[in-house]
This record gives sequence, C-alpha cells and structure tokens, in this order.
Amino acid sequence: MNSDILAMVCDPITHDPLEVETILDSRGLKQESLTNRKTGKRFPIRDGIPIFIEDEVISGPNKKYQSMYDRLATLSDFSTSAYSHWKGINVEARLREYLDELEVKEGDRVLEVSVGTGRNLQFLPRTAQYFGLDISWGMLKQCQLNMRKWNLDISLFMGNAECLPFKKESFDVVFHFGGINFFNDRAAAIREMIRVAKPGTKFVIGDENEELAQRYENLPVMDGWYGNRAQAITAPVDLLPPEMQEVRVKDISGGDLYCLSFRKPC
Ligand SMILES: C[S@@+](CC[C@H](N)C(=O)[O-])C[C@H]1O[C@@H](n2cnc3c(N)ncnc32)[C@H](O)[C@@H]1O
Repeated sequence: MNSDILAMVCDPITHDPLEVETILDSRGLKQESLTNRKTGKRFPIRDGIPIFIEDEVISGPNKKYQSMYDRLATLSDFSTSAYSHWKGINVEARLREYLDELEVKEGDRVLEVSVGTGRNLQFLPRTAQYFGLDISWGMLKQCQLNMRKWNLDISLFMGNAECLPFKKESFDVVFHFGGINFFNDRAAAIREMIRVAKPGTKFVIGDENEELAQRYENLPVMDGWYGNRAQAITAPVDLLPPEMQEVRVKDISGGDLYCLSFRKPC
C-alpha cells in the first residue's frame, strides 16, 4: 500500500490511523495487515485488498445481501449483459444517466461505495484516482479481474458502507449505485459518505424504485431480492442532513431507478 493511500485509511469504528504491519501467521507465512496501534486491532490484507469487516459483525439484510452477491459474483456481469441484450438496452447510455452527474476532474480521488464488479469505472475519465469499497469478497475479486481486463486501476477495500475506513474529507467525488435500498442502516451510510467527502463534493446515490421492486417481487427467482421489504422504497431524501445543498431526485432508466444528487456545503 502506498503512503498516500495509507494516509487516507483509518479504523472504520474508532477512526484511529493505521500502520502497515507484517506478521507471521500460525503456518509461518507472512501476513500483511493494517494495524491500529492504539487498540491493537488488525485488519488483514488479502490479495492486495484490506479487509475491514468481520463475518460476525455483519448481520440482518447486510449479511443476506453479502451472501447473495458472493454467490452471484461470477455470473453478475454475464447476467446483466444478457438481460440488457434481451431488452435492447444500451448499457453505456443507461449508466451515463447517473455517471454524467458526477463532477470528475483530472487528479480527483473518486470513491464508489459498493463498487460491485466495477462496471461504472469503464465510463469515467481515466485521469482520476479510483477507490472502491464493497461488502462482498466475491464482487471485489470479480472487480479485480475486470480491472485487469479493462486495463484500469483502482484501490479496493472490503468494508461496510455504514462505517467507512477512510479519514474525513478524503475524496473529491463520492457515489453509490445499486445497494442502498437494502442496507441495514441507510442513514449511517449517507452520513459516512458525507464525512469522507471534501467540502463542495457533489454526491450521486441511486437504486431501484418501488414500482420496479413490485414488478419483481412476485417473480420466483427475484423474490429473494425484493420480497419482504420492511417499507416501500423511496429515494432517501429524508435522510440527508438539512445543510446539504442542490438536492435533486430524478427518475432514470425509464422510471425503474431513482438518482438522488446533492452537494456538501463548502
Ligand atoms: C447491484 S450491485 C451494484 C454494483 C455497482 N455499484 C454497479 O452499479 O454496478 C450492489 C452492490 O452493493 C454491495 N453491498 C450491499 N450491501 C452493502 C453494504 N452494506 N456495504 C457495502 N456494499 C454493499 C453488494 O455487495 C453489491 O456489490
């Protein structure tokens, strides 16, 4: 991990700084980790990805969707392209409906919370520095493969959107697409995105609309994703702190998805 990135990461709970540490595991193999010197807590680094969550602290819907995405990871891109092909959807045009809202400038640090397989990165300027976090190890490994295939560079982190392992005001652009409807605590995730963003950052957050969820919930394969919703889906405008500016919600993807954008005051 380079020193610039090390300077940005922190303990996701205490926000203490972290140090790179190399220890020998029980089999005598070298194991790199990020260590909180104050508490002694170690966050292992596996295949170059720091792991900021422990299985036992992931619960509720987060646990359910983490397992579902882990199972789906290798099929995710194929099933999305097959569905788009069948429906005659131009994927790039669909993604640009929200990606074009982002204000990515040369040299910016851009964080995608819930990066999935990294498909959004293909359509963003190459002159910025990208960071992706996800709760699913399977999706992160798929993202690593895609980045190699597409010759793109990203720093990946395994973590929960509700407690981000980054210091405050680390990023110029922060966005999230496709997972927030079923997070355990959507308000905490939004607070965290705002905390790690620099003043003046424009945010984009989007996910499925209630109408789409209702269409899908009775389909046999999809009921596991959309069935038993605790409440009707709405864009989480009510969860934004009152000081956020330029709050806007638009329907995209023919009304199937919402795209909420807003700006952190300077
Ligand atoms: C539909 S995919 C979207 C991926 C990507 N943003 C995109 O637009 O292609 C939703 C992603 O949210 C992730 N996710 C679900 N719950 C999460 C949580 N609590 N914290 C971080 N990521 C989460 C899943 O693992 C999955 O990769």
